[in-house]
Amino acid sequence: MASSVATPESLPSRGKIGIIGSGLIGRSWTLIFISAGYNVTIFDIEQSQLSSALVDIDKQLVELQKSGLLRGTLTPEQQKALVSVTSDMKEAVTGSLHIQECVPENEALKKKVFAEIEQFANDATVLCSSTSCIVPSKFTEHLKRRSQCIVAHPVNPPYYCPLVEIVPSPWTEQSVISRTRTLLEEVGQVPVTVKREVDGFALNRLQYAIINEAWRLVADGVMSPEDVDKVFTAGLGMRYAFCGPFEVIHLNAEGTASYLERYGSTIERVTSTFGPSPTFTGQAYNAVVSDSNAHYPLDKLQEIRQWRDARLVALAKLKKDLEPQKPLQYLHCASGK
Ligand SMILES: NC(=O)c1ccc[n+]([C@@H]2O[C@H](COP(=O)([O-])OP(=O)(O)OC[C@H]3O[C@@H](n4cnc5c(N)ncnc54)[C@H](O)[C@@H]3O)[C@@H](O)[C@H]2O)c1
Repeated sequence: MASSVATPESLPSRGKIGIIGSGLIGRSWTLIFISAGYNVTIFDIEQSQLSSALVDIDKQLVELQKSGLLRGTLTPEQQKALVSVTSDMKEAVTGSLHIQECVPENEALKKKVFAEIEQFANDATVLCSSTSCIVPSKFTEHLKRRSQCIVAHPVNPPYYCPLVEIVPSPWTEQSVISRTRTLLEEVGQVPVTVKREVDGFALNRLQYAIINEAWRLVADGVMSPEDVDKVFTAGLGMRYAFCGPFEVIHLNAEGTASYLERYGSTIERVTSTFGPSPTFTGQAYNAVVSDSNAHYPLDKLQEIRQWRDARLVALAKLKKDLEPQKPLQYLHCASGK
C-alpha cells in the first residue's frame, strides 16, 4: 500500500525524510519534521499502525493549533499534506536525506532494519536511530554504509521536551554528526552530542545517579519517598527547568571558580558518603512501591499521565513565551540551547 500526498504547489519542499516505525516516537518525529516543511514518508510493517498514525497526527495538529503550540509557520492542513505513509520500505528510504528509525527497542531488530534501510539509501542519506540505550556500534558494525549511521535519542514527549542526544559510533563520519545536529536545530529540537559511546548515553546516566541517591535516602531511613519527590518538584526541579547544574553553581556564587572554592570540598565530603550503587530490593523496595501505589493507584495511571502531560505543555509554553527575555546570550539556561 502506498498513499502519497504531494507537497502543496505553493510550498517549496525542504526535502524528504523517511520514518521507519509509526508508533509513539515515529509520530512525534513526523510532527516535528513537517512543522519545518519537510516531506515525511512513514513506513511500518503494520498497516493498522500506519492508518492510526495518520488519524493521530491529524488530531494532534488540530489540538496543537488550538493550544497555540503548533510549531512553524504552516497551517495544520499544510503540515498534514506533507505526510505520506507506505508499507514499502524502498518507497520510504529512496531519495530521503535523513532516515529516522523508530522500531521497538531490540538490538537484533535494529540490526535487521538497518540492513534493510541501507539497501535503498544513497551516499547522502543519514541513517539515524531513535534508540534509548543501544550504542550504535552494536547494530551498525556489519553495514556497508556504517559511516552514515548515528543515533538521535529524543526525550518523551519530543514535541515538548526538545532535547535530543546525538550519539555517533566510532566509525560515524564527522559530516554525519554535523548534518544531524544542524537538521535537529533547524526543526527546533535541542541537540547535544555524546562524543563517544557510553552505556546509558548522558540523560540516563544523570537520571540513574539521581535515582540511586534517592533510593539510598529512603533505604537509610533519611527521608520518605514522598518527600524525596518534593525535593525535586518544589526544589531542584524548579531551577532545572531553566538552568543546568553548571549554570546553577555559576549563579549560586560569584561564578563557578568562587563556588568551587567555597563549596568544592563540601561536595567532595558529602559525595564520599554516598556508598555503592544500591540494589532495588528489600525494605526500601516495599517502601517506594507501596508509597507510589498509594499516591498514584495503578488503575489511574492514564489519568495521571494526562495531568502530567498537560503541565509539560504549559511549561513548554512558558519557556517559549519567556524566550525573548533571555538575559545574556552566553547563558545556556534561558533557552535550553
Ligand atoms: N517511548 C519512549 O518514551 C521513547 C523515548 C525515546 C526513544 N524511544 C525509542 O524509540 C524507538 C521506538 O519506540 P516507540 O515507543 O515509538 O515504540 P512503539 O512500540 O510505540 O512503536 C514501534 C513501531 O515500530 C513498528 N515496527 C515493528 N517492527 C518494524 C519493522 N521491522 N519495520 C518497521 N516498523 C516496525 C511497530 O509496528 C510500531 O508501529 C525505540 O527504540 C525506543 O527505545 C522511545
